[in-house]
Amino acid sequence: MTQGLTVAIVDDEPDMRDSISQWLGLSGYRTEVFASAEDALKVIGPDWPGVVVSDIRMPGMDGMAFLKRLMGLDSGLPVIMITGHGDVPMAVEAMRLGAMDFMEKPFNPDRMTELVKKASQARRMTLDNRALRRDLSEGQQVMSKLVGASPAMDRLREDILDLGQADGHVLIDGETGTGKTLVAHALHAVGPRATKRFVQISCAAYNDEALTARLFGPLEDGLPAVEESRGGTLCLEDVEALSDAVQARLLAFIAEQGAPAETRIIAISNARGEGRRAEDSLRPDLFYRLSALQITVPPLRQRGEDILSLFNRTTEQFADEYGCEPPQVTAQEAAQLLQAPWPGNVRQLINVAERAVLQNRRGTGSITSLLMTEGDEAREATTTEGKPLKEYVESFEKMLIDNTMRRHKGSISAVMDELCLPRRTLNEKMAKYGLSRGDYLSGG
Ligand SMILES: Nc1ncnc2c1ncn2[C@@H]1O[C@H](COP(=O)(O)OP(=O)(O)OP(=O)(O)O)[C@@H](O)[C@H]1O
Ligand SMILES: [Mg+2]
Repeated sequence: MTQGLTVAIVDDEPDMRDSISQWLGLSGYRTEVFASAEDALKVIGPDWPGVVVSDIRMPGMDGMAFLKRLMGLDSGLPVIMITGHGDVPMAVEAMRLGAMDFMEKPFNPDRMTELVKKASQARRMTLDNRALRRDLSEGQQVMSKLVGASPAMDRLREDILDLGQADGHVLIDGETGTGKTLVAHALHAVGPRATKRFVQISCAAYNDEALTARLFGPLEDGLPAVEESRGGTLCLEDVEALSDAVQARLLAFIAEQGAPAETRIIAISNARGEGRRAEDSLRPDLFYRLSALQITVPPLRQRGEDILSLFNRTTEQFADEYGCEPPQVTAQEAAQLLQAPWPGNVRQLINVAERAVLQNRRGTGSITSLLMTEGDEAREATTTEGKPLKEYVESFEKMLIDNTMRRHKGSISAVMDELCLPRRTLNEKMAKYGLSRGDYLSGG
């Protein structure tokens, strides 16, 4: 039941910690002794596989401060406090702060084993539940929302899984509607902070005063975001909207936290999509701190084949919701979907899909007409009336070869195999479409 768990014993008195350790060792527990709270904090973090027994009166960081730190790291960690004779008010305060129980000196072995047994059972259950939830729900659920099999999406998924495990702050950049907010959720959900809060603040939605209060307090009710997200993730949307004053506060907060940070910040920027750079709107020292890790979410038009799978998946969902049939996409419409510039990216595609389903239910309209109303840029690129079928086929063929070459990093023989093309035909088509093998070799 309690296999693999450690009991951390924190006490500045060597005799005390050794006798507790010995006794628990005899009762079959694995123990680790620490002469100070500071030492213990070097080892104990969120999801630490163990329970803590700590003295209250210690030089340096005392037991109460230690308890607060532990609760900030992992509020589910069972902590048993050892109080001196007559320290009842302190024991009460410790329970209020989240201690599981307390034990009065002098050391009573039976009470100790009983408490440690209870704590270990609770800990095992908490950790199992967390692992279960992490596996089944959050992480997988959020990841499964990311549709797409293009190389760009595969890379994005790998980045999320890698950076999700890391500790540094993250800067997410990309055009509007590409999925930045979704990626931020995924980063939180696949990582060790999944069971902690994900606090999302839209920096552009507040004036300076309100934003400062929302982030750092004081608030009339509720916790400011930096407290609320302790041990978890603070997601700052539209980070370039931060004023100089708020940037300075945020920088101070980050510096105060040290490393690894208790609160992980995920900053989201639209700058790149608007032809700017996030570093131009943020003070350099803040940008440097926030961009320890970076993810750029690719625009939809660079995800070629994903456009159709996203469109199909989404129209099916809306058809379900509206209780009707999804529209059948003709070859011509498929070509138009693939060629559209999608300035609003996935969000725009979802809009088009919903309208396509509603139109289909009424039995009117076409996908072509929907794309035509999607703004000037879209109109230009999708003014395809009267285009011969040959041109659709060619643009489709080019896209397919381009994607396949990219996926196989320029390996001609792999592309020949996948597309069942003889070498000569493949070479001819690449020349015709201006595709050159060299562009794919580095994997880019
Ligand atoms: N790869 C994807 N697969 C499926 N749905 C996606 C994908 N990427 C984004 N979406 C969906 O597209 C919509 C827009 O995504 P999201 O809000 O994350 O974009 P954003 O980049 O944060 O936009 P903004 O710049 O406006 O904040 C959401 O409904 C989201 O669920
Ligand atoms: Mg967003």
